[in-house]
Amino acid sequence: KKILFASSETHPLIKTGGLADVAGSLPIALAELGQDIRVIMPNYQGIKNCEPGRYLCTVRVNNSDIHLLETRLPNSEVVVWLVDYPPFFNFPGNPYHDENGKPWPNIGDRFALFCRIVVEVAMNRAYLDWQPDVVHCNDWQTGLVPALLSLEENRPASIFTIHNMAYQGIFPASAYTPLNLPGQLWHQDGLEYHGMLSFIKGGLQFADRITTVSPTYAQEIQTPEFGYGLEGLLAYRHDILSGIINGIDTSIWNPADDVYLNHHYSAENLSGKLQNKLELQEKLGLPINADIPLFGLIGRLVEQKGIDLLLSCLPEMTTLPLQFVLLGSGDKSIELKLEDFARLYPDKIAITIGYNEPLAHQIEAGADIFLMPSRFEPCGLNQMYSQRYGTLPIIRKTGGLADTVVDSLPDSMTNGTASGIVFNDPVPAALLEAIKRSLVLFAHKPTWQKIQLSAMTKDFSWQNSASQYLELYSQI
Ligand code: ADP
Ligand code: GLC
Repeated sequence: KKILFASSETHPLIKTGGLADVAGSLPIALAELGQDIRVIMPNYQGIKNCEPGRYLCTVRVNNSDIHLLETRLPNSEVVVWLVDYPPFFNFPGNPYHDENGKPWPNIGDRFALFCRIVVEVAMNRAYLDWQPDVVHCNDWQTGLVPALLSLEENRPASIFTIHNMAYQGIFPASAYTPLNLPGQLWHQDGLEYHGMLSFIKGGLQFADRITTVSPTYAQEIQTPEFGYGLEGLLAYRHDILSGIINGIDTSIWNPADDVYLNHHYSAENLSGKLQNKLELQEKLGLPINADIPLFGLIGRLVEQKGIDLLLSCLPEMTTLPLQFVLLGSGDKSIELKLEDFARLYPDKIAITIGYNEPLAHQIEAGADIFLMPSRFEPCGLNQMYSQRYGTLPIIRKTGGLADTVVDSLPDSMTNGTASGIVFNDPVPAALLEAIKRSLVLFAHKPTWQKIQLSAMTKDFSWQNSASQYLELYSQI
């Protein structure tokens, strides 16, 4: 099949979160399964780690000439088409924010334009002599694509993948006309959402298939707690909604061959892991101590990730024999609170605010235990990276976390499936209890090592999930 894969971010070209990891690795897995796949994304100023895009063609939309450039995902044959419109995309910052973290004021215009170009390419009006059978859209930034395609004859099929229901791309109704969107899409069963314009509804109403990134999240989003007002629509379309768990890029996230680590290790020989821990403690200014359990957390510092639960636990955590390292950025008030703790307890807590890929790998490798107390988590990747690195995750039982981590209980420890520690309620007491449970397990080395081995040998590669996407493509 010919597949056009549209995403607002793609690792390693530009990344703010897990969507980029998926857009940088699922297309490669699909290409390995023999599919003819092209990725399309905006040509941001911040794009790096790829050959410079070379001019491919010009598409005319909204009375502007817009160029498409062509490059590739590094170390692969997968072609990436970059939508080059400097007045929108040639600025420092990330796809959603400027350099100071302020959302782009014209973000609606930016992604509406991106969607239009995707549609032109999908309809073979870019003179590329290549028309996809399937357009695979991801998150609200691509939501207008299925909606606009629905108005076309002889159109390709569309799939819309939800990576996060909390971000919907909602704008005031007054944005509709300036975006030049067709009047016939402005109704309750179209792009209108309580009198506002909703990009994500374009995907949810009009796509031929809806997927999300884990089976559990596919169920959760049909309830008010996780559906953010769209649970009714999702429940109505449940026949075409399914959950396919994300895989991970096992070449980038491989403790035996990780370019950011000085000491490689594997399930067969874990000794390098301890070296990484000692180096990490030194690098972050913590007392160097092989025996003390080292907890890690990496992520966007937002409500989703349950950082407030962690903040409530930190005072008691500082009384326990442990160290804690965190890497992340996001909500300024959370950043400040975390930094305050680090100042008060420099021997126990090290906080790094910012985005830092090498350090993310070093924490995955050097920590003993990884914290992921998310309030909701569509899939989550760090818990899979952690398991592969023998860094047992503590997770809240939600979304993809529930689908990828097996709690260490008598049964699962006997049958060798235990791979982490799971708690249910999003309350500080439950997280604290899980932390204490992990300390008990950690203290008993043979048990801990057994769980590490079962975690490290689990198969999180893309093969299985990519075949599930293929199966879907073949149905539509
Ligand atoms: P989400 O997409 O909700 O942010 P995921 O767990 O799916 O959560 O993916 C997050 C990805 O972003 C992971 O690859 C993680 O390592 C990475 N990441 C998040 N924050 C940082 C950071 N501050 N520095 C480096 N990598 C980060
Ligand atoms: C989103 C979700 C995360 C998921 C990622 C990739 O950012 O928050 O849970 O892993 O998308 O699908």
